Amino acid sequence: MIRLTRRYRFSASHRLHSPRLSDEENRAIYGKCNNQHGHGHNYVLEVSVRGPVEPETGRAADIAALDSLVHREIISAFDHRNLNADVPDFADAVPTTENLVAAIERRLRRVWSTVFPGEWPELDRIRVQETRRNTIEARL
Ligand code: NI
Repeated sequence: MIRLTRRYRFSASHRLHSPRLSDEENRAIYGKCNNQHGHGHNYVLEVSVRGPVEPETGRAADIAALDSLVHREIISAFDHRNLNADVPDFADAVPTTENLVAAIERRLRRVWSTVFPGEWPELDRIRVQETRRNTIEARL
Protein backbone atom coordinates (compact mmCIF):
# COMPACT_ATOMS: atom_id res chain seq x y z
CA MET A 1 0.00 0.00 0.00
CA ILE A 2 1.28 3.42 -1.00
CA ARG A 3 0.57 6.81 0.50
CA LEU A 4 0.79 9.66 -1.97
CA THR A 5 0.79 13.28 -0.79
CA ARG A 6 0.21 16.45 -2.77
CA ARG A 7 0.91 19.90 -1.38
CA TYR A 8 -1.12 23.02 -2.16
CA ARG A 9 -1.13 26.60 -0.94
CA PHE A 10 -3.83 29.14 -0.38
CA SER A 11 -4.09 32.45 1.43
CA ALA A 12 -7.11 33.44 3.46
CA SER A 13 -8.12 35.66 6.32
CA HIS A 14 -10.17 34.84 9.35
CA ARG A 15 -11.25 36.00 12.76
CA LEU A 16 -11.56 33.51 15.60
CA HIS A 17 -14.78 34.41 17.35
CA SER A 18 -17.48 32.10 18.66
CA PRO A 19 -21.04 33.40 18.95
CA ARG A 20 -21.52 30.76 21.66
CA LEU A 21 -19.11 32.64 23.92
CA SER A 22 -19.17 36.13 25.45
CA ASP A 23 -16.89 38.86 24.08
CA GLU A 24 -14.78 38.48 27.20
CA GLU A 25 -14.49 34.71 26.80
CA ASN A 26 -13.64 35.13 23.12
CA ARG A 27 -10.81 37.51 23.98
CA ALA A 28 -9.54 35.18 26.69
CA ILE A 29 -9.60 32.07 24.47
CA TYR A 30 -8.48 33.42 21.12
CA GLY A 31 -6.31 36.40 22.18
CA LYS A 32 -4.99 38.40 19.21
CA CYS A 33 -6.83 36.09 16.83
CA ASN A 34 -10.11 37.56 18.15
CA ASN A 35 -9.22 41.07 16.87
CA GLN A 36 -12.25 42.49 15.15
CA HIS A 37 -10.73 43.01 11.72
CA GLY A 38 -9.16 39.59 11.38
CA HIS A 39 -5.78 38.61 9.94
CA GLY A 40 -4.40 36.46 7.17
CA HIS A 41 -2.48 33.22 6.79
CA ASN A 42 -0.58 31.55 3.98
CA TYR A 43 -1.93 28.06 4.49
CA VAL A 44 -0.15 24.94 3.27
CA LEU A 45 -2.54 22.07 2.60
CA GLU A 46 -1.43 18.49 2.16
CA VAL A 47 -3.86 15.90 0.89
CA SER A 48 -2.74 12.27 1.11
CA VAL A 49 -4.38 9.33 -0.56
CA ARG A 50 -3.62 5.63 -0.20
CA GLY A 51 -3.93 2.72 -2.53
CA PRO A 52 -2.08 -0.09 -4.22
CA VAL A 53 0.14 0.49 -7.24
CA GLU A 54 -1.89 -0.13 -10.38
CA PRO A 55 -0.01 -2.61 -12.56
CA GLU A 56 -1.09 -0.87 -15.80
CA THR A 57 0.19 2.58 -14.83
CA GLY A 58 2.70 1.94 -12.04
CA ARG A 59 0.94 4.65 -10.05
CA ALA A 60 -1.10 4.69 -6.85
CA ALA A 61 -3.35 7.57 -7.91
CA ASP A 62 -4.10 9.88 -10.81
CA ILE A 63 -2.37 13.04 -9.57
CA ALA A 64 -3.95 15.27 -12.22
CA ALA A 65 -7.41 14.13 -11.13
CA LEU A 66 -6.56 14.81 -7.46
CA ASP A 67 -5.15 18.25 -8.32
CA SER A 68 -8.19 19.27 -10.28
CA LEU A 69 -10.50 18.04 -7.50
CA VAL A 70 -8.59 19.98 -4.83
CA HIS A 71 -8.41 23.12 -6.96
CA ARG A 72 -12.11 23.00 -7.78
CA GLU A 73 -13.46 22.13 -4.33
CA ILE A 74 -10.93 23.74 -1.99
CA ILE A 75 -8.51 26.25 -3.49
CA SER A 76 -11.03 28.11 -5.60
CA ALA A 77 -13.41 28.28 -2.62
CA PHE A 78 -10.87 29.38 0.02
CA ASP A 79 -8.03 31.25 -1.70
CA HIS A 80 -8.03 35.01 -1.09
CA ARG A 81 -11.30 34.78 0.83
CA ASN A 82 -12.40 35.91 4.22
CA LEU A 83 -13.27 32.52 5.68
CA ASN A 84 -15.85 33.95 8.13
CA ALA A 85 -17.72 36.04 5.57
CA ASP A 86 -17.16 34.33 2.21
CA VAL A 87 -17.15 30.58 2.89
CA PRO A 88 -20.49 29.01 3.87
CA ASP A 89 -18.74 26.20 5.78
CA PHE A 90 -17.96 28.78 8.48
CA ALA A 91 -21.39 30.36 8.77
CA ASP A 92 -21.87 28.39 12.00
CA ALA A 93 -18.33 27.19 12.73
CA VAL A 94 -15.32 29.13 13.99
CA PRO A 95 -12.66 29.06 11.22
CA THR A 96 -9.96 27.43 13.33
CA THR A 97 -7.52 25.17 11.55
CA GLU A 98 -9.34 22.19 13.12
CA ASN A 99 -12.60 23.26 11.49
CA LEU A 100 -10.78 24.05 8.25
CA VAL A 101 -9.51 20.46 8.12
CA ALA A 102 -13.04 19.18 8.80
CA ALA A 103 -14.50 21.37 6.04
CA ILE A 104 -11.85 20.18 3.57
CA GLU A 105 -12.64 16.54 4.42
CA ARG A 106 -16.39 17.12 3.91
CA ARG A 107 -15.83 18.87 0.60
CA LEU A 108 -13.55 16.14 -0.74
CA ARG A 109 -15.77 13.27 0.42
CA ARG A 110 -18.86 14.88 -1.12
CA VAL A 111 -17.53 14.34 -4.66
CA TRP A 112 -14.78 11.77 -4.12
CA SER A 113 -16.59 8.87 -5.81
CA THR A 114 -17.33 10.93 -8.92
CA VAL A 115 -13.60 11.62 -9.38
CA PHE A 116 -12.36 8.23 -8.14
CA PRO A 117 -15.16 5.75 -8.87
CA GLY A 118 -13.05 2.65 -8.13
CA GLU A 119 -12.12 1.08 -4.82
CA TRP A 120 -8.86 3.09 -4.73
CA PRO A 121 -7.44 5.55 -3.91
CA GLU A 122 -8.95 6.34 -0.52
CA LEU A 123 -8.54 9.62 1.33
CA ASP A 124 -5.77 9.02 3.88
CA ARG A 125 -4.81 12.27 5.57
CA ILE A 126 -5.54 15.99 5.47
CA ARG A 127 -2.93 18.28 6.95
CA VAL A 128 -3.08 22.07 7.16
CA GLN A 129 -0.15 24.20 8.25
CA GLU A 130 -1.42 27.56 9.45
CA THR A 131 1.85 29.02 10.72
CA ARG A 132 5.40 27.75 11.06
CA ARG A 133 4.51 26.60 14.54
CA ASN A 134 1.01 25.31 14.01
CA THR A 135 -0.12 22.29 11.99
CA ILE A 136 -3.34 20.31 12.29
CA GLU A 137 -3.94 16.96 10.66
CA ALA A 138 -6.71 14.42 10.40
CA ARG A 139 -5.91 10.78 9.72
CA LEU A 140 -8.78 9.23 7.83
NI1 NI B 1 -5.19 33.03 12.59
